[in-house]
Amino acid sequence: MKSWIRWAVLHGLPRRYLTMRARDGEPLPQILMGSGAEQDPYPFGDRIREQGRLVRTSITWVTADHEVCRKILRDKNFGVSTPDTLELPRPLLRLVRATDLKLANPIEPPSMLMVDPPQHTRYRKLVAQEFTPRAIGRLHDRIVEVTDELLAGLAARRNADLIEDFAKRLPVAIICEILGVPKEEQDYMLELGHAGAPLLDVGISWRAFSRAIAALRASEEFIEGHVARLRVDPGDNILSELAVSGILTMPELKATAALIAGAGFETTVNLLGNGMVALHEHPDQLDLLRAEPDRWPGAIEEILRFGSPVQLTARTALCDTEIVGHPIARSESVTLLLGAANRDPAVFADPGAFDVTRANAREHLSFSSGVHSCLGASLARMEGAVALSALYERFPELRLAGTPERRGLVNLRGYQRIPAAPGLPAVRRTV
Ligand code: HEM
Repeated sequence: MKSWIRWAVLHGLPRRYLTMRARDGEPLPQILMGSGAEQDPYPFGDRIREQGRLVRTSITWVTADHEVCRKILRDKNFGVSTPDTLELPRPLLRLVRATDLKLANPIEPPSMLMVDPPQHTRYRKLVAQEFTPRAIGRLHDRIVEVTDELLAGLAARRNADLIEDFAKRLPVAIICEILGVPKEEQDYMLELGHAGAPLLDVGISWRAFSRAIAALRASEEFIEGHVARLRVDPGDNILSELAVSGILTMPELKATAALIAGAGFETTVNLLGNGMVALHEHPDQLDLLRAEPDRWPGAIEEILRFGSPVQLTARTALCDTEIVGHPIARSESVTLLLGAANRDPAVFADPGAFDVTRANAREHLSFSSGVHSCLGASLARMEGAVALSALYERFPELRLAGTPERRGLVNLRGYQRIPAAPGLPAVRRTV
């Protein structure tokens, strides 16, 4: 009952309201409800940008302007938006608070993603050294090894699903190693992450919500068991260190583990999938990369810009403030359309073109900006460059064997199926 009430307030009612506003042609509800936006949200983002740099809608402020997004993400007058800070009438907000399910998860406090400094600074410092470019550099050979194993599996296939057989597998394998999770448990982690991902959307169905809550319960239990195991038999990984040191409370530790796990694979799978589809739709760009493989790191930035794996986030004003001439009152929230900001023509020339040689692609906001900017950015970049370059080098004849299917999520935008015929593998060079 408690979770049904929570769903009704956080999703059921907003869903009804947003559906109505979407029908009236309001672009933000159209994006949030995935009305056509599931296929292509960018025209709706363009319409919001045409309305202004920062627009007050019937539900929240919204911006698709690159500079304004970046400004707000880096502004101390704004904090994170949690279910507790939603712009809801007081009785509904009270219901949200009363129905807190107190489940460890990435998108509610005490997850570092959902708390402000100084609490955020403390959590981030504890794990940051594991994710510096230098620390991630040490994972390079392992990423190459796992990629090779997965590609060897594809070599034997006439038909494959590039998401199921490749894009999903690499990130989960690496994040499990980072967290000391045994290989046999990767599939279970994938299942839980997949069921939990819709929680990043607004107005999801009761069915999706209850599945997600069941997944959070199961993942909390899984993490508790895993932490207990690490306390007895610690490995050389960050979670063992945190579990043994006792520096975090159990709820803090569980939220940190859940965040790193979820953020580590539910996003990178979209980078890989979106990249494959973009390259198949732009074969001239793929030819260029095959001829000049040094361009892969730049191509990863363009893939991230062109199809942001995380489409939006939000911030709430901590005090009365002002942004580009608009007064924002304390507690008002702003939806930041990261994916649309990456298509802002004021920053990116011809933003709808996919151009792997684009000089400023790295200015994208796909990893957000400011204190919450993605901790796993170096890891995701490395996984992206290693995986995609190896895939196309190994399978010169790779072609799609059907229409790629989208995941059906608004925020974590990517594909759930990319049917492909790998073709004959290239003869491997021996050094
Ligand atoms: C292409 C892949 C990825 C994308 C697009 C992505 C995107 C993002 C974004 C947009 C945020 C900030 C959201 C906000 O400002 O509200 C974020 C935060 C975060 N990401 Fe990623 N991420 C990716 C991969 C990863 C990986 C591989 C990890 C690995 C551990 C990771 C861990 C985190 C963590 C821990 C945070 C929270 C940081 C904080 O609150 O200080 N991410 N990510």
